[in-house]
Amino acid sequence: MKRKLLAVTLCATMIAPAIAQEEITYRQHIEPMLKKYCNECHAAPDAPTMADFKLDEEKWKKAKVGPRLDTYEHLVILVAYPSTGAIMRRLDDGTSQYANGKPGNMYKYLGKTDEERQANLAIMKAWVGEGGWNLNRMKARGDVPALTKEQFDKLELKY
Ligand code: HEC
Repeated sequence: MKRKLLAVTLCATMIAPAIAQEEITYRQHIEPMLKKYCNECHAAPDAPTMADFKLDEEKWKKAKVGPRLDTYEHLVILVAYPSTGAIMRRLDDGTSQYANGKPGNMYKYLGKTDEERQANLAIMKAWVGEGGWNLNRMKARGDVPALTKEQFDKLELKY
């Protein structure tokens, strides 16, 4: 009897976090969130692809338009590669390693109140995957080392 209970408890504690993460998908959670908070400046037809954005950043910044984030594929470019960690650097609340206590400049768009911003950030982080929210780039820059293979492997990004 006791052993059975222990087994059940162990199973529940091991499975629960996995399920919590499983449930966050691009289609169900991330796409609606970006639509609501970001697409005004980050969606076609006005917004360029990330590659086009990079070709003439000054022009796009002046127009107050950012790179497209309105499909799964466009978004993943700014999470995984080649603009590794761009989403994390811009949306971080300043508490991650290498943020130096400073929130990313897109964090403010995640909600009107800090509560709303924190809730949306938590969903974003869960979608990226536990241990996958890193501000590093593929290559080292300044004091920030390059992302490791182990860190990269944590990305889940479920569609
Ligand atoms: C009012 C317009 C506006 C809104 C709303 C907005 N952004 Fe931006 N975003 C910009 C502009 C303009 C740039 C380019 C200038 C810059 O790099 O800061 C940018 C840049 C970015 C970048 C960096 C691209 C790069 O060069 O690596 C990311 C990532 C980003 N935004 C994500 C988001 C997310 C996610 C949201 C929603 C939570 C959001 N933005 C909401 C205008 C906006």
